Amino acid sequence: MAVAPSGLENVVIGPTAISCVDGDAGELYYRGYDVRDLAREASFEEVVWLLWHGDLPTAAELARLRGELARQRVIPHRTAALIDTLARIPAVPMAALALATGMLGVDDPASRSVTPSDELQSALLLVARYPTIIARYERRRRHLEPVEPPSNASTATAFLTMLRGSPPDPVESRALDVLLIVHADHELNASTFTARVIASTLASVYAAVEGALGALSGPLHGGANERVMAMLEQIGTPERAEPFIYGLLAQKKRIMGFGHRVYKTEDPRAAILREVCLEFAQHRQHGRGWCDLAMRVAEAVWQARHLYPNVDFFSAPVQHMLGIPTDLFTPVFAMSRVAGWTAHVMEQHAHNRLIRPRAEYVGPPPRRFVPLAARG
Ligand code: CMC
Repeated sequence: MAVAPSGLENVVIGPTAISCVDGDAGELYYRGYDVRDLAREASFEEVVWLLWHGDLPTAAELARLRGELARQRVIPHRTAALIDTLARIPAVPMAALALATGMLGVDDPASRSVTPSDELQSALLLVARYPTIIARYERRRRHLEPVEPPSNASTATAFLTMLRGSPPDPVESRALDVLLIVHADHELNASTFTARVIASTLASVYAAVEGALGALSGPLHGGANERVMAMLEQIGTPERAEPFIYGLLAQKKRIMGFGHRVYKTEDPRAAILREVCLEFAQHRQHGRGWCDLAMRVAEAVWQARHLYPNVDFFSAPVQHMLGIPTDLFTPVFAMSRVAGWTAHVMEQHAHNRLIRPRAEYVGPPPRRFVPLAARG
């Protein structure tokens, strides 16, 4: 039996028609559309439809999806009560989101069905309700009243409104919209692979998404964005960037938000979010500092190691400027990626075969059992 390379690097485990990463060219396509075009021209909701259905929506289809998402944003009573409990204890927000996801499954009568129409409906509930869950959790832990979901708003606007208690301005709303677009899917990253492995046992969308959340939370994956912000805060000012980075590298530490398994050139999502960061900083004078600092850190890492920033790097200052608390950065990533995870679960179930690889056994050879009393 051939042994796959460490970390399954460059191993192609099967087909997907959802997204494609060209690591050498630094390109990302959702269903054949360049993510740069989508970030410039489309909305997050158009991307959600694209990932689920394979084509961009017509105006009528988009209106229907927006309406459905807006109607479904209200969360069931039991999920709301669970969030309120979790907000009273020092829970990790990603763990709280995973528990709330389990509860959403309990309240969804279709949660155990793997038929395409039921799975699509569950996917819609997840995308609709994640903004409400995350915003409610944040407000409750700050001892504030939760804000009802606005009746006719985009995902980005609804989330910021529920988080803050007042609607964002159009520049803020668009900045978050673009951030959600670039996070929506990324081929077989660790969390999507996890979701597909779980789905391959014919477990539910909710089970797959709970597992994916766990994989996303780690600092080598989606959890990197929170560490990036902590690092920027620790560095503090642009002139301290270079010594700080060289110091970390001298200690053989990893710089969060840099490097990538697949991209050998710039991650296109990082380039898009760098532009959002610069535009946003111009719009908000107070933001300029974070953007300048991030640019200096990127320069220092390039000089020191020739590593490019990945999506998590500029996501951190953008989310910070939007007033999102640092420990909600990864849940916001999940608020978008849940669209991709659910698209992959549906694709997996359309042509399912159990994912069950082998391991190369390197433990002791067969040996005689020693009874407890005879062990020294
Ligand atoms: N800082 C310092 N050195 C690095 C970094 C980094 N961020 N990334 C890679 N390297 C070095 C690494 O030390 C190794 O050097 P050497 O060959 O001398 O030992 C070389 O580059 C190859 O690294 P690797 O660990 O074999 O690469 P990988 O493909 O296994 O890891 C990665 C990819 C993303 C886990 C890694 O680049 C990393 O740890 N980055 C920091 C965490 C991060 O930003 N994660 C977000 C990933 S992208 C978005 C997402 O999926 O959430």
